Amino acid sequence: MIDLKKAKEEFMNYVSNYDDKESSIYRKIHHSIRVMELSREIAESLNLNEEEIKLATLIGLLHDIARFEQFKNYRTFSDYKSFDHGDMGVQILEKDNFIRKFIETDEYDEIIKTAIKNHNKFSIEEGLDENTLMFAKIIKDADKLDIFYEASELMLWHTDEEIKQVEEGIISENYINTFKKHECIFREKDQTKIDSIILVISFIFDTNFKYTFKYILDNNFVNKILDKFDYKVEKTQKQIELIEKIAYDYLNEKI
Ligand SMILES: [Fe+2]
Repeated sequence: MIDLKKAKEEFMNYVSNYDDKESSIYRKIHHSIRVMELSREIAESLNLNEEEIKLATLIGLLHDIARFEQFKNYRTFSDYKSFDHGDMGVQILEKDNFIRKFIETDEYDEIIKTAIKNHNKFSIEEGLDENTLMFAKIIKDADKLDIFYEASELMLWHTDEEIKQVEEGIISENYINTFKKHECIFREKDQTKIDSIILVISFIFDTNFKYTFKYILDNNFVNKILDKFDYKVEKTQKQIELIEKIAYDYLNEKI
């Protein structure tokens, strides 16, 4: 049996090595705990058995385990500027069998590591068995839900200068075109602030489960994220309206 109480204690023990007075560290601790809960909710919605629900919940807790070393050593959460935090998460769990602190049995190790490795990739690797793929999808959905939460409820990217960049910005043609095709946008290296927001909204096209679509709608995440800004350029105002319409039509179709 998976002991989630013990796993959470071990997690809190691990993160106590990092300074939670740093807002970035604090944020990732709480992100991990929220994603743990969201993973459990998604797993329950899929009518999985108790052990499977606990496994999904544990993956949610551990998926960002590499974020703490990443911020400590590089002062960034950008994988481009540091390391791939999915791959590094697997390495951290493998080192000295650290994973055993969180789960006694080793029978789920491959599922846990594969889900964590894939959670931050643009697409999940090919050739996974159905069961592993399901756990990989659950963590992707749960993580996205919390990204939407953070983007709509917490003021993330937003220094005054960045707000100005969004409000005076023009959305790139290729970002809009990808969005219109109902596809998740692939991040360009030097994306603008306004494009980064459109990219987050495009995560709805990389979402898997009914529960997740419903959660996005119930929380009105799309409007909350987009309506934070007072867009100055007329063309952008029209594009934002279009994006909202495409997003809500898509989400409503999925529930
Ligand atoms: Fe992550």
